[in-house]
Amino acid sequence: MTHSSQTTTQSSTKGDAITMPYTYFRGEFVPSAQAQISVQTHAFNYGTGCFEGIRAYVSRSKQKTFILHLLPHLRRFVDSCKILGIGLNIGPEELAKRVVELARRNQNGGDFYIRPLAYKSHTRVGIYYPDQTDDFVVFSVPFGNYLEVERGIRVMVSSFTRIEDNMVPARSKCTGMYINSFLAKAEAARHGYDEAIFLDRSGHVCEGSAENIFIVRDGKLHTPGVSSDILEGVTRQSVIELAGKELGIECVERPLDRSELYIADEVFLCGTGAQISPVVEVDGRKVGPGVPGKLTQQLQTLYFGIVRGDNVAYRAWLTEVPPA
Ligand SMILES: Cc1ncc(COP(=O)(O)O)c(C=O)c1O
Repeated sequence: MTHSSQTTTQSSTKGDAITMPYTYFRGEFVPSAQAQISVQTHAFNYGTGCFEGIRAYVSRSKQKTFILHLLPHLRRFVDSCKILGIGLNIGPEELAKRVVELARRNQNGGDFYIRPLAYKSHTRVGIYYPDQTDDFVVFSVPFGNYLEVERGIRVMVSSFTRIEDNMVPARSKCTGMYINSFLAKAEAARHGYDEAIFLDRSGHVCEGSAENIFIVRDGKLHTPGVSSDILEGVTRQSVIELAGKELGIECVERPLDRSELYIADEVFLCGTGAQISPVVEVDGRKVGPGVPGKLTQQLQTLYFGIVRGDNVAYRAWLTEVPPA
């Protein structure tokens, strides 16, 4: 079974800027090159934006494109905006119409990634003004695998601590919070690892820089609970559902110790970007025999089938993109 990326093609490339033809910007669909903001923008200066990462997958026949878990992502987007105090004035269902229309215009027979982003858009210097304005943009980019999904990845526990709920809430997907993720991921890369794992201040496991984490011990899944300074991952929820319904495997949500990563039978990361990525090494120690675990692979097979529309029982997870 291979789960390799369907596409990494791109419709226009200049340096590292990969774009698709249209972007939703200031209330309309404009050619992506026209979607520009001022360098004085509050969000650019202070990290005051909220975003989502949503995947669109092509069917195996390449005839259809499906957006995965559109409404759950947009509901979380609205919640993130509420936490940060960004006025969207539009609910998940209306947002969904715009996202689907962007996907309809940009679809190109390959997989892509859709990013709604709401942000503090005023251009005055200063942290807060009562009359601050907010804006909302949606762009998309061609997207393949974010992390390796077949051979498995090597991870290190980060020397950076996960930011706490009362500092910058991890359940809000706000842009500034990703400084924490960036520092950890860059540190891991410098040390030759594929990904970083955050611990909280008490030493308990939180998540990866952009993924939730699961371990397998004694035939059960274990993952940190939603009060563990994690993003309440949409994929995390899908994994819990699939494990229970399709494989009869219970998932225990509880605090996880660092040392449990060292003795787990299996470890994997999951997320919209990461999909389901087996972890084969943690801090230089092999996970199990050092190859992707059986349960991880079973979950992957189910997941990769569902996202491309192969499994009719899970079609409710997908929104079909209308023809261009
Ligand atoms: C910090 C963090 N945790 C977890 C996830 C996984 O969340 P989801 O499955 O909703 O994409 C992401 C991905 O967006 C993330 O950035």
